[in-house]
Amino acid sequence: MSAYDVVIIGGGPGGYNAAIRAGQLGLKVACVEGRETLGGTCLNVGCMPSKALLHASELYEAALGTEFATLGIEVKPTLNLAQMMKQKNDSVTALTKGIEFLFRKHKVEWIKGWGRLDGVGRVVVALADGSQQELQAKNVVIATGSEPTPLPGVDIDNKRILDSTGALSLPEVPKHLVVIGAGVIGLELGSVWRRLGTEVTVVEYLDRICPGLDEEVGKTLQRSLSKQGMAFRLGSKVTSAKVKAESVELSIEPASGGEAQVLQADYVLVAIGRRPFTEGLGLESVGVVPDRRGMLENNHHAAAVPGIWIIGDVTSGPMLAHKAEDEAIACIERIAGKAAEVNYGVIPNVIYTKPEVASVGKTEEQLKAEGRLYKVGKFPFTANSRAKINHEAEGFVKVLADERSDEILGVHMVGPSVSEMVGEYCVAMEFAASAEDIALICHPHPTRSEALRQAAMGVEGWIMQA
Ligand code: FAD
Ligand code: NAI
Repeated sequence: MSAYDVVIIGGGPGGYNAAIRAGQLGLKVACVEGRETLGGTCLNVGCMPSKALLHASELYEAALGTEFATLGIEVKPTLNLAQMMKQKNDSVTALTKGIEFLFRKHKVEWIKGWGRLDGVGRVVVALADGSQQELQAKNVVIATGSEPTPLPGVDIDNKRILDSTGALSLPEVPKHLVVIGAGVIGLELGSVWRRLGTEVTVVEYLDRICPGLDEEVGKTLQRSLSKQGMAFRLGSKVTSAKVKAESVELSIEPASGGEAQVLQADYVLVAIGRRPFTEGLGLESVGVVPDRRGMLENNHHAAAVPGIWIIGDVTSGPMLAHKAEDEAIACIERIAGKAAEVNYGVIPNVIYTKPEVASVGKTEEQLKAEGRLYKVGKFPFTANSRAKINHEAEGFVKVLADERSDEILGVHMVGPSVSEMVGEYCVAMEFAASAEDIALICHPHPTRSEALRQAAMGVEGWIMQA
């Protein structure tokens, strides 16, 4: 039986970052991953393929519609869906191979198979050839990630009724795609297919899209996506789905109950959230008990059982790759006896639609609920010269700061390239900056980033716009 300092179960952003950090710190480490490739949900069927399709479909629509023509570029694009999918797959392969290279570089052993806990300090791996490998570990890190939450009555077959993985690899452009769930996946993948020519209807249980978002940002995003042609059925629930040869018949009702209607689609995407993945993991053999949502609790990444650690989507907090990565590093540093902390107050959140949404820190709704006094500074992209000359002046930046100390408490933006700009406020918040600090910092002109400064100036009452 091979013995390790650390065995990590799962090779996603949580698992592979933990493995590489352990290797860097000189620990003897193995990472157990059952997929054919490393990188987990994020690289294989999540962040990366979705962003590849979002990028390609955005350019296609810009060329097809009025955007390029407005700039004086006249082209007639034709869609080559097979090539669009191929370039996505090629990029994913390059990225997953990159993790393999990093494993070799940092002496991480990849054990290809499905791991199961077999008492504290023991992991049994079912290898692809049907044999088993037993591993002994001083520390086991559970980084098994998440899976789509199923919807009773709407069974995913990944032919007509899809989860996100199916919606990333369709062989044809749907005529009518019904998306169930107006969350991040629904809006991002709904955008991809709408841009490629699909009629998209989003059915959402609540009376707003993306429930965790700042309300004003959510409304702006919904307005913009509606203008682009995405239809929303808010306050509605799908109660059943009948799959026919080339279509699906959905029964849809008001969320509060009432008369059912029929909605026809050729494809349906179920995107109502994700849940922790712990199937077959042998948790009972070590005495780790999931909570009622299936989450594994942790205290500074440690389970209640000594020698077991938990990171990423399988535990509480936002299900985001960069959160999993931060937990991975902190977890391994703790295992190595170092001090490490994740600042859960400064984890940015991005939606890669057009316009993009980016936020970090508290929303106005959260501050109100806490009874905290705060000041607001807001700056619209219509007053930002770079956004204006690029014809992308939709949206705004909103900064929230403490009424008395002026410390930045949250930033919420919707607009062009905000995914690339939110990092500035993450740095500021990590350093406990005040809004005045940002307002006094010189930003290059003309850039969209000036809107970040102008919003901070707004907090100080230094009105610079007409
Ligand atoms: P995962 O990435 O899910 O990795 C877990 C791995 O463990 C999997 O590869 C699985 O095969 C393996 N595994 C599970 N059980 C076992 C076992 N018993 N033995 C061996 N291996 C096992 N997040 C962002 O931050 N930005 C984005 O833009 C973004 N886009 C997304 C788009 C989509 C469509 C989806 C679905 C998700 C997206 N996410 C995004 C979320 C992101 O993918 C996850 O937060 C992230 O992958 C979580 O990392 P993880 O390591 O905890 O789990
Ligand atoms: P989500 O939690 O973002 O959104 C789910 C939506 O479905 C919510 O609006 C919810 O109210 C709604 N809903 C729930 N049950 C419903 C029902 N029965 N009928 C209709 N609507 C219902 O979940 P989603 O979009 O599946 O994404 C899962 C996670 O993946 C995200 O929370 C995020 O952590 C991660 N992700 C992150 C991305 C990013 O960072 N850009 C991109 C894609 C996914």
